Order: sequence, then structure tokens, then C-alpha cells
Amino acid sequence: METRLRVDDVWKSWDGVPVLRGIDLSVASHQVVALIGASGSGKSTLLRCVNGLVSVDAGSIWLDESLDVTHEKTNLDDVRRRVGIVFQSFNLFPHMSVLDNVTLGPRKVLHRSRDLAREAALTLLDRFGLADKANGYPDQLSGGQQQRVAIVRALAMEPELMLFDEITSALDPMLVGEVLDSVAELKATGMTIVMATHEMSFAREVADRVCFLSAGQILEQGTAEQVLTDPQERLTRDFLARFLR
Ligand SMILES: Nc1ncnc2c1ncn2[C@@H]1O[C@H](COP(=O)(O)OP(=O)(O)O)[C@@H](O)[C@H]1O
Ligand SMILES: [Mg+2]
Repeated sequence: METRLRVDDVWKSWDGVPVLRGIDLSVASHQVVALIGASGSGKSTLLRCVNGLVSVDAGSIWLDESLDVTHEKTNLDDVRRRVGIVFQSFNLFPHMSVLDNVTLGPRKVLHRSRDLAREAALTLLDRFGLADKANGYPDQLSGGQQQRVAIVRALAMEPELMLFDEITSALDPMLVGEVLDSVAELKATGMTIVMATHEMSFAREVADRVCFLSAGQILEQGTAEQVLTDPQERLTRDFLARFLR
């Protein structure tokens, strides 16, 4: 299978403190990879390195074995066109309608006409159960709906890889399910996904592979079944035990 993303020995320090220490990660197209690990283990930093929001100190990150995200000559707009990211906080533009939030990128970056961008946005909004919200504003939506709009906004750029950084962590527990359903729907369409998550049962359901990060290293990885049910490392067991308690 095609390798969509390859992270090769990536190192990153913040203020002299190493937070990524030799990360290797390979993701095939259509694969869903879950990153789990304690707060501060480096999950967000890794995701931000992958779409070029954060520069690495050493190592390289390849999209489709052809575009090196970390190369100084790489145009980061190219990277961000190909890699969508959704954060814990929804980050919608509050003064713009849902439709305008979703069509802004395609119009400004992909140079789509207003009509084409609108048509594509409405199709996506419909697919994620948001068709009736197109003309609403972010503050008129629930947190779950806002997060689904954030997913749709990223998808409108037609990315080949989606990164989700704890996208349900800021949500009322009642609203988590609808957002996870959207991720499952996206997986069903064949999207390649790397997601940092604390939703272990969801990881078990949708992830083809689970990576446990500890202090900036992937300490253990395998199928969800292997890592979540039969972890080999003591730190993974400790993390899961603390988590499930
Ligand atoms: N922009 C930043 N500046 C300084 N330190 C940072 C920055 N982002 C993250 N860190 C630090 O890097 C470490 C890893 O953080 P992070 O990647 O957010 O982990 P996680 O997402 O697993 O909680 C933490 O100690 C955090 O405080
Ligand atoms: Mg994080």
C-alpha cells in the first residue's frame, strides 16, 4: 500500500527541553492511526510538525514519499492544502456564517468560484448533517455542531490526510458521540487519519493502529487490540490503568 505519511527520526525541543525524541511513524493511505499518551507526551507537537505549523529540529516528514514538509524550500501552503487539521477548540471565524467559514479556503487558496465552492460546501455540510446550519453563525451552534463544521471546513480543502488533535476534549460529554460519528464516517470514505485522542473505546473501534507516546517517544505501537488490551510496556499499562480508573 502507498505510504501517505512518513515521519523519520523527528526531534523537537521547546526552550531546550526535548519533547519529540526520535519519532518514526509510517501511515499508509486509508489508515487510521490513534496517538495516545499522557498530557505533555508530545502528541500535539507531533501533529503540528506534520502540517508544518511547528518546525522540527532534526529528522524529516514526507507526504506521499514526495513532499518533505521539513525541507526549508517547501512551500507550507502546499503542505496545508494537502493536510487538514482540526483542534480541540473549534477555531471557527465567529463573524462569518457557516457557509462562509467553509468556502473561504477553497475560494482564497484553491481559487474556486463562489458558486463551485458553495456547491461543494453544501454537499459536505449535508453529508455531516449540517445542511440546515449553512446560514447560521458559529455562536448559534452547539459545540458538537461547531466541531463538525470545523471538520467540514478542513475537508473542503480536499486534503489527502486529516489530523485531529483531541477534537472531543472540549465538548460536553453529550456531544462527543456526534463528532466521533463524523470521524467514523470519514474513515468509511477512505480518508487517511492521524488523531490524538483520549477516547480509548473510540480508538479501539476505528483505529487500525494505536501508538502510545511517552516523553516524546513512541514507546509501543500495534493494533488497537494489542496496545489497549495487551500492552507490553509497563508505562503503557500504567497509563491505561490510570485512564480507565
Ligand atoms: N509552543 C510551545 N512552547 C513551549 N513549550 C511547548 C509548546 N508546545 C508544547 N510545549 C511543551 O511540549 C511538551 C509536549 O506538549 P504537547 O505536544 O502539547 O503534548 P500533548 O499534546 O501530548 O499533551 C509539553 O511539556 C508542553 O508544555
Ligand atoms: Mg495535546
